[in-house]
Amino acid sequence: MRALTWQGTQKVSVETVPDPEIVNPRDAIIRITSTAICGSDLHLYDGVIPAMRPGDILGHEFMGEVVETGSDSTLQKGQRVVVPFTISCGGCFHCRITQFSACENSNPVEKQDMSEKLYGHPMAGIFGYSHMTGGYSGGQAEYARVPFSDVGPIVVPDHLDDDTVLFLSDILPTGWMAAENAEIQPDDTVAVWGCGPVGLFAIQSAIAMGAAKVIAIDHYPHRLELARKLGAETINFRLTDVREALMEMSGGIGVDAVIDAVGMESHGFAVDNVIDIAKQKVGIGADRASALKQALLAVRFGGKVSVPGVYGGMTDKFPLGAVMEKGLQLRTGQTHVQRYLKDLLAKIEDGSIDTTFLISHRLPLEEAPTGYKHFKEEQDSWTKVVLKPGMAASA
Ligand SMILES: NC(=O)c1ccc[n+]([C@@H]2O[C@H](COP(=O)([O-])OP(=O)(O)OC[C@H]3O[C@@H](n4cnc5c(N)ncnc54)[C@H](O)[C@@H]3O)[C@@H](O)[C@H]2O)c1
Ligand SMILES: [Zn+2]
Ligand SMILES: [Zn+2]
Repeated sequence: MRALTWQGTQKVSVETVPDPEIVNPRDAIIRITSTAICGSDLHLYDGVIPAMRPGDILGHEFMGEVVETGSDSTLQKGQRVVVPFTISCGGCFHCRITQFSACENSNPVEKQDMSEKLYGHPMAGIFGYSHMTGGYSGGQAEYARVPFSDVGPIVVPDHLDDDTVLFLSDILPTGWMAAENAEIQPDDTVAVWGCGPVGLFAIQSAIAMGAAKVIAIDHYPHRLELARKLGAETINFRLTDVREALMEMSGGIGVDAVIDAVGMESHGFAVDNVIDIAKQKVGIGADRASALKQALLAVRFGGKVSVPGVYGGMTDKFPLGAVMEKGLQLRTGQTHVQRYLKDLLAKIEDGSIDTTFLISHRLPLEEAPTGYKHFKEEQDSWTKVVLKPGMAASA
């Protein structure tokens, strides 16, 4: 089959690789019909997440048709399914309390060494996300093997086309959990850093949860425009002092909740960020947390801090004092995708959530490297790229 492979920092290519096979009775094989490029893939593309190997197949947002099932799979051939990016067994302690992204059984023991050292505990398995999370082949391919297919995938009805349901795999539940982690109350003013797909879905979710005011922060005019269309007020951080503006917009008290939908590759020319960019380039001090630091200073005393943005290693000059002295609540994590699938699918079906507005480009799988390049370098207009393995490559 054909698959998009990681070959080195900012080097990806579509190669012919062996077809996946059933290796466990609970597996299923999916023929991919749609798969998206995520902001998390950019961290791999940029080489800032360790434990990638040349030839690894990327992609953790995918859906398709079941073409083969192991004897213990509950799926049936021909069903259309969306696959959560988190690989979860359904039976361990964490899965049973719906903390699916903390599954203890999905990352093979021999692969766990690095995350256990870094985090104190090994990470769960994630599709296409380095050998720290199990080294699973991802879904930016013609086919994928899905372990624990009796737990993760959700069967979607035929009348909903791929574009409406694909984002159940990651960014839609991620935006939802980000808003849930901000514990939004009806009078709350919520500020969201980053108007990429995750930020936009967090904005949409915060409004659905009844936030009185949502303020979106980014520097790309088109992405800020999408945030305004959802009902947010906006701040361009290149033109405006973010903290000052937020103080003004919150009656001088600070915003009630902040959501960092930027993660470890924060843009901008704040002094700390410029120093962090240099350190990240040479591999000392991994994470650029400029947006998060700004959020911690902008949130009010007793405020709520939600961090869907991905961080991988260590962060320098983290304002822990602000967290303590202001009595902040901090919640974060890889999304427990399986927890949200049924409810969010129902919201898509009844029309209360639209997921398609942020798709800017649909490309054949063969053009995935172009998709990565533009999603990285032209973020303003390339808001979300969906790859279609069945689509013919353009001449
Ligand atoms: N927790 C999870 O399970 C989960 C799931 C999916 C994605 N993520 C993470 O969420 C983050 C966002 O993902 P995405 O797909 O939206 O990515 P993206 O790269 O498309 O968007 C990031 C946005 O942040 C903006 N930004 C950069 N620096 C900023 C700053 N200092 N202030 C304000 N905005 C700034 C960028 O301009 C960009 O629009 C990434 O870190 C990704 O890895 C986490
Ligand atoms: Zn993703
Ligand atoms: Zn589990």
